[in-house]
Amino acid sequence: MQIIIRPTSEIAALLTARLIAEALTAKPDLVLGLATGRTMERVYADLARRHLDHGLDFSSCRTFNLDEYVGIAPEDPNSYRHYMNRHLFERVNIDLRNTHVPNGVASDLAAECARYERAILACGGIDLQLLGIGTDGHIGFNEPLASLRSRTRVEILTSATRRQNAGMFSGDPERVPPCALTMGVGTILDSRRCLMLATGSEKTDILAKAVEGPITAMIPASALQMHPDSTIIVDETAATGLRGADYCRTIFNTAPAWAAYR
Ligand code: F6R
Repeated sequence: MQIIIRPTSEIAALLTARLIAEALTAKPDLVLGLATGRTMERVYADLARRHLDHGLDFSSCRTFNLDEYVGIAPEDPNSYRHYMNRHLFERVNIDLRNTHVPNGVASDLAAECARYERAILACGGIDLQLLGIGTDGHIGFNEPLASLRSRTRVEILTSATRRQNAGMFSGDPERVPPCALTMGVGTILDSRRCLMLATGSEKTDILAKAVEGPITAMIPASALQMHPDSTIIVDETAATGLRGADYCRTIFNTAPAWAAYR
């Protein structure tokens, strides 16, 4: 696990976008796992800018989103499909047929989850999975106590998550759907590379627990400690609680692999 600390949330987001852009350039048919949420908006804005200004090519890219609310149709402005179309897909040259978001209004949700797992496998698995972290330690919508080997399934959201996401639902946590479809922690760990972005003071405590605490189902993000190729990009504010922050800075400032990014 590599933890990269950048001075501001903006610089952290730009580094995240750059790493994605480089992965896409190196492998034009990249299978990219995507996340939604406020933290990702800057990442997608910068990817769109790279497409516009530098011709970053998404035409062969395949994408799989982590999650979708149950009961929210794709055309609903609160759906994650709508979020992705607005923030990224409509702004780059991706073929919408190559973009995948779980269907939260499928008549058989268990069958939809199984179909989603099969679709990921049919594409050869996820090359690079982008992740945020919830204030309760969730990744995707894998809430505390999610099995670390879980697969795509229906998850009941915690009150912390419904509060965190209330902004999209007129600020009322009660209007946030109670359930979501989410890739499992095991599905995420199967990705060849994981890239998490965590910024801001509301992530300080949970970030320290996730990366420096014990691996526990109570903090699904802590499972990334077991992933052979995971990078966590954070800003100085989110890094405040890290005991190993100085060592993380030393790695970024001295490791040849990061020389081009300093
Ligand atoms: C949503 C997702 C979530 C978010 C997390 C952080 O697709 O994967 O795990 O990444 O809830 O959300 P923000 O960025 O809004 O704090």
